[in-house]
Amino acid sequence: MKTLAVINQKGGVGKTTTVINLSAQLAHEGKRVLVIDLDPQANLSVVLTGGQFEFEHSITDVFESSKKCPIQQAIMSAQSNGEAIPNLCICPTDIRLSRVIEQSLTKVHRERILLKQLEAIASDFDIVILDCPPNLSLTSVNAMMAADMFLIPVDGGSFSLNGLADLLDALEEVKESEHVNYAVFRNEFAKANKLINNFLDEQLASLEGKVLATTIRRSEDVGQASVSGQTLLNYKPSSLTLADYKSLAKEVMQRLNV
Ligand SMILES: Nc1ncnc2c1ncn2[C@@H]1O[C@H](COP(=O)(O)OP(=O)(O)O)[C@@H](O)[C@H]1O
Ligand SMILES: [Mg+2]
Repeated sequence: MKTLAVINQKGGVGKTTTVINLSAQLAHEGKRVLVIDLDPQANLSVVLTGGQFEFEHSITDVFESSKKCPIQQAIMSAQSNGEAIPNLCICPTDIRLSRVIEQSLTKVHRERILLKQLEAIASDFDIVILDCPPNLSLTSVNAMMAADMFLIPVDGGSFSLNGLADLLDALEEVKESEHVNYAVFRNEFAKANKLINNFLDEQLASLEGKVLATTIRRSEDVGQASVSGQTLLNYKPSSLTLADYKSLAKEVMQRLNV
């Protein structure tokens, strides 16, 4: 089992959208996939559970007491348009997550709670994808400890990549390594935005080998699918954007070795 964290402390860059459609693509290709919602805003949970926002067990319960609620209890089948998605499971979150995590400050190894839980289900899934919150909180540190690789979406509005340098610093610090396995990709890519594209290309050039060839185009289909509680694959099988997610899945699998 390999763990991928989709991470960027900036909000609105496409983390959740990427988790939804990348996981759907990987499951479609036969991989056993688990997604974990680590953002108390719970967008991922809502979309992949058919609009639910209260759950019998959630990742919050696991962080609160993994003894009372081991992660297995909080895992359910993901759904799209009322039907279970084969090979895709979700561990949902709820709005209490930030508070519960803050309260765990006195626990020893509090930044390894998720890592420990994932060890227990290592043979059940091929790939676990973490949807991180838009900050570098203890929740994100748990994701960093647990992840084998980091996938960082950058959007067209990123006039400054200062935040990216901060994120990479944090990853190196938490991993205690200068060789963190991460990959950056452009989300909401629009060919016509030449000025922005040239600027970002220049900025990203210094990250040689860490920028994926795949870009995810800006497309109305993507937002429409999420709003209607579906994966893009399910909502519009003819969408051209699906080719982008397929390409993303291929590159990610190569880099993760799965
Ligand atoms: N490729 C895309 N094309 C069009 N809209 C997108 C695309 N990716 C994301 N969005 C939209 O951008 C908004 C923010 O995306 P989201 O995945 O919620 O970001 P984050 O999780 O990083 O906060 C959402 O409304 C989403 O539908
Ligand atoms: Mg999100």
